[in-house]
Order: sequence, then C-alpha cells, then structure tokens
Amino acid sequence: MAGRKPATRDFFALSGAFFALSRAPSTPPPVPAVRAAVARGRRAGHDACMDIYDSLIDAIGRTPMLRLSRVGSGLACDLLGKLEMLNPGGSVKDRIGVTMIEAAEREGLLRPGGTIVEPTSGNTGAGLALAAAIKGYRCIFTMPDKMSQEKRALLRAYGAEVVITPTAVPPESPESYYRVADRLTEEIPGAFQPNQYHNEHNPEAHYLTTGPEIWEQTGGRITHLVASVGTGGTITGTGRYLKERNPDIVVVGADPEGSIFTGEVHPYLVEGIGKESWPDTLDRDVVDVWVRVSDRDSFLTARELTRKEGLFAGGSCGTALFAARKVAADLGPEHVVVVILPDSGRNYLSKLYDDAWMIEHGFLERPGTNVRIGDLVSDKRRHGPQVPDLVAVTAHEKVGKAIDILQSYGISQVPVVREESFDDLGDIVGSIHDRGLLDHVFRDRDAIGRDVVEVMDPPLPVVEATAGIEDMFADLSRGAEAVVVADGPKPVAVLTRADLLEFLSHGKNG
Ligand SMILES: Cc1ncc(COP(=O)(O)O)c(C=O)c1O
Repeated sequence: MAGRKPATRDFFALSGAFFALSRAPSTPPPVPAVRAAVARGRRAGHDACMDIYDSLIDAIGRTPMLRLSRVGSGLACDLLGKLEMLNPGGSVKDRIGVTMIEAAEREGLLRPGGTIVEPTSGNTGAGLALAAAIKGYRCIFTMPDKMSQEKRALLRAYGAEVVITPTAVPPESPESYYRVADRLTEEIPGAFQPNQYHNEHNPEAHYLTTGPEIWEQTGGRITHLVASVGTGGTITGTGRYLKERNPDIVVVGADPEGSIFTGEVHPYLVEGIGKESWPDTLDRDVVDVWVRVSDRDSFLTARELTRKEGLFAGGSCGTALFAARKVAADLGPEHVVVVILPDSGRNYLSKLYDDAWMIEHGFLERPGTNVRIGDLVSDKRRHGPQVPDLVAVTAHEKVGKAIDILQSYGISQVPVVREESFDDLGDIVGSIHDRGLLDHVFRDRDAIGRDVVEVMDPPLPVVEATAGIEDMFADLSRGAEAVVVADGPKPVAVLTRADLLEFLSHGKNG
C-alpha cells in the first residue's frame, strides 16, 4: 500500500467531517487506547483499584497534571503542567502513534505484515515503534542528522530501522527526510506512511484524549492552554476541544526562533518543534497568541524546570514554559494556565544537559569569565611557589646553563630573549622546553655545549594581562604548554597549564 498523504484540501474535507461529528463535546468518542484504559478504570494512583493492562497501548494517555509552584512562584494565577513525558513511550506522541496506526488498520491502509515508514524527529517514531512492536509491524524511520544519538538508539531498541538524512537541505530536496520517506513508502510493498504532518488522526487523537483530560483535570477551570508546536496536532486537537467546551479559553502557541509560525525561517537547535513550512495538521485559527522563544530561553527554562520541580524536561518543555510564564505574568488569581510538557530530558543528555555543549553554543557562560589573566598572576604570586614572575634565558646562553635554570626554579619552559635586559615583547625570540631539550641532548650529547638559539622553539603565545582567562585557555587548548603575559608591550609573567588548573581547582574562578 502506497503512503497515504491527503492533499491539503482533502485533509480539510476529512477534518470537516471529523469536526462536524465532534460538535457534541459532552460525549467525546474516546480513541481505542483511552477507551481501554477508561473501561478498566484509571491508572494506579488515580483510583483505589490497581490496574493490570493487557497491553502497554492501554497505558497511553491519562497523564498526570502538576502544579508548577516553584517555577511559577511570583505568578498570581495557577500554572499547571500536563506531564506528557510520563506516557509509556516517553512523550506526547504516544497518543498519535497508536491512533494513526489503528485508524490505518480500520481504513485498510495497513494490513498484517505491513511496514510503517515515517519521517520523524524521534518522538513520533517512539510512539509508532512502541505500538508497532506490540502489533507486529516493521518500522522504518527517516531522521535528520541534527537529532540526538539517544533518539536514534531508542528507535533501534524497539526494533525499528533508522535512515539518517542531512539536516541542511530544503524539504523538497530528494535527500530530505520527507522525500526519502516518500520514496521508501513507494518502493516497499505493503508500506504505509502515517504522515503526522498531514494525518487528521494526529489532531484527532488530542481532540479525543488530551483535551478532555485537561478539561476534566482542571474541573473546567482552565483559562489558557500553552503548547509548543511541531505538526500542530497537539495544539489543534486539544485547543479545539477546549474551545468547544469554553470559547473564552485562550490558546497560546510557543514557537522557536527560526520557525515559520512566528517569523523569519533560519536554523535553530530546539528539537521536535517549529517548521519551515505550514503543516496541514495545524489549524491556525485555533491559536490565539503566538510567543517566539529563543533556543537559549528554551534550554535554560527546561534546565530550570528540572532543577526546581524535579521534572526532567526536554527542550520543547522549556519553550512552552517560557511562553506560559510570559502570558501568565499578566494574569490574575482567577486564571488557570495549563502548559503541555511534551517529553523528557533523557533524549537530550548530550545536548542541553551537557554544560560543555551549552557553553560551546553560547547558552552558558564559560567558567571564569569574570577573571582576568592579571588576577591569575597576582594569585600565583601570593599562593604559588616562590619563582619570579618571569624567568628567561638569553639566546647565546649555553644549553647546559639553560637546563640548570629550568631545574633550579622547578619550571618546564622559559622564553628566550635577545639580551639579559629586556622589556619589550619584541625582545623575545623563542622559547625552550624541558621536553625539547631532552630530545636534543639525548640524541646528541654535544648539544649541552651549544647556544640556546640553535635548539630553541618558537616564542610562547602572548596574552594580555587585562584579558579574560578564556584567552589563555584558548591558547592552552591549542597545545601551548604556557603563555607569556603582557602588560601592553611589556612581558611581565609566564603562566602554565598547571597554574590555570591550580587556580580553577581551588574554586577561585569568580
Ligand atoms: C519534543 C516535542 N515537543 C513538542 C512537539 C509538538 O507537538 P505537535 O507535533 O503535536 O505540535 C513535538 C512534536 O514532534 C516534539 O517532538
């Protein structure tokens, strides 16, 4: 079976029928997953009776809602988080995975032994892979290479095949993850592409489950719904259901900077949300307010959510929470803001939860940013071994004498200067290092009697005393063992790797 991708007009024709059917909101027809869960009673912890599910599919949905009192402190209104990361596959997308598969089964688009092919950034893949593993379907996912290693490994763990495609190509390129998925769907007999960006069962899953759950959990008190937007399925289905219950509910879309929903399109790092073109599954009319959120704000807010609420949150939780707090800041105590928290931080351990990655992208300050190199010189003078700030040897000193100097001060390298009296960087002509000297002397014992100029290495890198210690770190990380510190044109000290390490290890990094 070839992939099913209704044209935009078909989609709206279909969704028109779906919405005509669903106009009577008091008795929303539950999707099978939720129907099963509801029929057996609620999850353990909600109800006095314990549940035993026959299939993990039955455990999808009915996620808890948490009052976010720590990250929401200072707000007058209620701020509540819908914990979608607690779905069994780890994200909000479990809801649409099973709904799209079961709809395809009913519609004859997916038959026993069939293959599911989907372009996905990971979470929809996990939702589909989980249901497919239980139902016995083969799964192939195409995914852009910017997605984390953890997401790829997870899909493979469910037995799915993952095809990686380049991120930096337009969606219409034959190499894009969309087009590769289309090609595989056409080529593989019995293949079905759920196509979450066009499939009306995506928003439908949220209309039938997420919306009613939020309405019920807040006792109909919700005034604002905030969701980050990828396919738009969550915001469209949930928002539409809630507005049918109360047309005054304000629906807020959180969009990463760089996505088309709120402005200029350019690359960004937050995963799973935003788009470079408008998906059919997003009904723009449902969204009342858009908030554009930077990568930095998304990531720092997600980290804050984890640290303050103990809720291990993915990047798009940060995007949504940032937008929610922005909207909530102007609301009074009569308002109830519900923010959908789509997935867990487990997928992003090597990204937003890795300080080195955050520093590399400029989202966290480098340690020691406030410390000047001159401070390090003063610190070494106060606490370090009693060595002059700057020891040098002249170019016409004998190598044997230079070795004595290194040994007597217990140092490993010194600058080589033209003459004994020097006060300008231009007087430095080279450097010698114990490692290099050993090399020369071991190979050629006569080297001991030669002039330093014959065996010296190039001068050490120069850093300004007034510069931040990051400048020194940059030189050291490029392989230098030490740097010459200058006060304007005047060399004043030599600092080594060991000096910086000693300084940082004693927590003197400001
Ligand atoms: C991590 C994450 N957050 C949020 C979303 C947004 O959900 P939707 O596609 O329903 O708009 C997605 C969708 O892929 C996602 O992967």
